[in-house]
Amino acid sequence: MIIKPVIKNNICIRVHPLGCKENVKRQIEYVESQESFKGPKNVLIIGGSSGYGLASRISLGFGCKSNTINVSFEVEPKKNKTGTAGWWNNVYFQHYAKKAGLKYKDFVGDAFSLEMKDQVMTYIKKEYGKIDLLIYSLASNRRTDPYTGETYISTLKSINKEVKGYTIDINNELLKEEKMEAATPEEIQNTIKVMGGEDWKIWIDMLDEADLLNEGFKTVAYTYLGSPATYEIYHHGTIGMAKNHLDETAAVMNPILKKKYNGEALISASKAIVTKASVYIPIFPVYGAILYKLMKEAGTHEGEIEQKYRLFKDMIYGEQPIIDEVNRLRPDNLEQDEQLQEKVKEILANINNENLHELSDIKGFISDFMKINGFDFENVDYNEDVDMDALSEIEL
Ligand code: NAI
Ligand code: NA
Repeated sequence: MIIKPVIKNNICIRVHPLGCKENVKRQIEYVESQESFKGPKNVLIIGGSSGYGLASRISLGFGCKSNTINVSFEVEPKKNKTGTAGWWNNVYFQHYAKKAGLKYKDFVGDAFSLEMKDQVMTYIKKEYGKIDLLIYSLASNRRTDPYTGETYISTLKSINKEVKGYTIDINNELLKEEKMEAATPEEIQNTIKVMGGEDWKIWIDMLDEADLLNEGFKTVAYTYLGSPATYEIYHHGTIGMAKNHLDETAAVMNPILKKKYNGEALISASKAIVTKASVYIPIFPVYGAILYKLMKEAGTHEGEIEQKYRLFKDMIYGEQPIIDEVNRLRPDNLEQDEQLQEKVKEILANINNENLHELSDIKGFISDFMKINGFDFENVDYNEDVDMDALSEIEL
């Protein structure tokens, strides 16, 4: 099969296995080029197949030889469908981890379900005894409550009033007017149900009850705060309300873990980057493209792997944590630079289709989007006939 990108509504419905391999390989090479560090032995990652979860897995596997268990929701290739990028990322994480002599395990299915939790716990008990770290890096638009069977859908909306802005039309490299509607109270509650801390806490409670947490156990969940330039669409929007719930959940769990394990429950705020989840947020991509330009110019731009390597090496397992007034870890510190944010605000107010390429890094932004789907790597031959069946082998 010869695979070319097909993009619909900013979702890449075809992905390239060999480009996904390159994406995983480059992240591993980055970590291997940095200092190794002393970190956790056994790690469970919820959502470790792409974006920040995958970068966390690579940072720990290749930065400190952690054993990693990943739970992700991905689709395997079938007939003329290429599967999801996360499927291939799992395949190639395994490929390189095996070569490096690391221990790894993948579960593919619904992390929100009790069945999945049971399977993972059985595995932990048998293979590891206990875990030292749980990373919560899920991004999902729906969740079925395992106790009631009810399914909740999350929305990406504002809270008080409609917000107008632009989205990036990836196919045409253009801005397109976009509205973010105001959410109903029910939509806010549903988004909290999906993207808040409820499922995170169920995982921790179940692992605790089964006696699968080690002395010094830590858990971290990822949040985004952003700046006033994005508050209306994110921090003060439905997703921001869910992230507040994540903060509250950490505050509930932290003293319990402290007392019982001398452990901790952490929240880490990350920088805005291109992921499957983030390009889907209305108006967010324009901010991202402007941010990329300014941070690249300032020499402070980071991708997911630089962010997560720094988070684990310097902060969670290091001596240089950047902590805010409510105890969140802040590797997003460089995005928060005040002068930078002033410039972002100014550009956002003036950007249009005539000056888009001059005022934003739309090319870099779109290139990152292509890369997370396995395209746009200069060293991958996109005319190669790819044997999907041969490549898609994975140990489950
Ligand atoms: P992503 O789309 O790359 O990764 C989402 C992960 O969740 C994938 O591994 C996917 O398989 C998994 N997943 C989704 N539904 C699942 C289910 N039902 N069961 C098991 N696994 C499931 O997204 P990204 O951006 O890496 O997001 C991860 C976290 O990082 C989120 O909490 C997000 O809010 C946060 N974050 C992202 C930022 C960004 O700019 N991308 C910025 C700051 C925080
Ligand atoms: Na992730």
